[in-house]
Amino acid sequence: MSNYTNSGFIEQTKVVFPSAYPTVIDKMYRRLRDIPWRLSQARDALFPSQYGHLYHTVRPYTMCGYARLRGLYQAIRYVVKCNVRGDVVECGTARGGSAALMGLVLKELGADRTLWVFDTFEGLPPPTDADPDYEVATLYAGSCRGELTEVQNLFKYCDILSQSKFIKGLFQQTVLTSEIENIAVLHIDGDWYESVKVCLDHLYDRVNPRGVIQIDDYGQWSGARKAVNEFLDQRGITVRLRYLDYTGRQFIKPSERVNNL
Ligand SMILES: C[S@@+](CC[C@H](N)C(=O)[O-])C[C@H]1O[C@@H](n2cnc3c(N)ncnc32)[C@H](O)[C@@H]1O
Repeated sequence: MSNYTNSGFIEQTKVVFPSAYPTVIDKMYRRLRDIPWRLSQARDALFPSQYGHLYHTVRPYTMCGYARLRGLYQAIRYVVKCNVRGDVVECGTARGGSAALMGLVLKELGADRTLWVFDTFEGLPPPTDADPDYEVATLYAGSCRGELTEVQNLFKYCDILSQSKFIKGLFQQTVLTSEIENIAVLHIDGDWYESVKVCLDHLYDRVNPRGVIQIDDYGQWSGARKAVNEFLDQRGITVRLRYLDYTGRQFIKPSERVNNL
């Protein structure tokens, strides 16, 4: 169970694994939970689907796994199909693969929405004392580096450059001053407590009701998990976190009315 859950919000995974040292039981439990997406991955390998094709295009440029990328693919299709207004935002882009996937889906659907990508483009900043697994996390500072020009070249190759905006710098500065007004899909992949919390604090209100929020690091990094749980607790938001894989979670922003019930 998470140490940080004390409100009524429902975490679909009742077991939250210690991020760095999962036990054998934890690992077996994960394997069982991951059977559905592993089956669909096998199916895609045998009978390539539209998603399978996009997955193989972006795979060399992303650290996100099959199920989390599929979560983003489904999120974009959902907001376009259901007419949820707003742009697509990614906080934590590295070499650009997950953002490129979202851009490619938008392009295939002919959806006229801006794709915003936020990153230092200099790798992960250091974690802080607010990250419960600081000692492990600190070893990763400076890693996951993707250069801005590398991401721009990938977007050019995918023919999604013209609909994209790149915001370089720390989220702690850039998201506070960004001019985005309406968000339909928000992908937060910043690993650390402060990185995730600042994005939720300042971008959540700009996500339209029924918009999708995906968190990449909920299972992997306890700082990210703490930021999400704290944010939901502080706001009194009750949502069901959809399990994507051992680390990825997704939820749909409820309308004000639902949360005030
Ligand atoms: C795990 S990587 C993102 C992976 C990426 N989504 C992919 O498809 O591979 C995390 C990224 O978040 C960025 N990041 C983390 N915290 C940040 C912060 N506070 N400000 C700006 N960028 C940050 C890092 O620079 C890094 O590129």
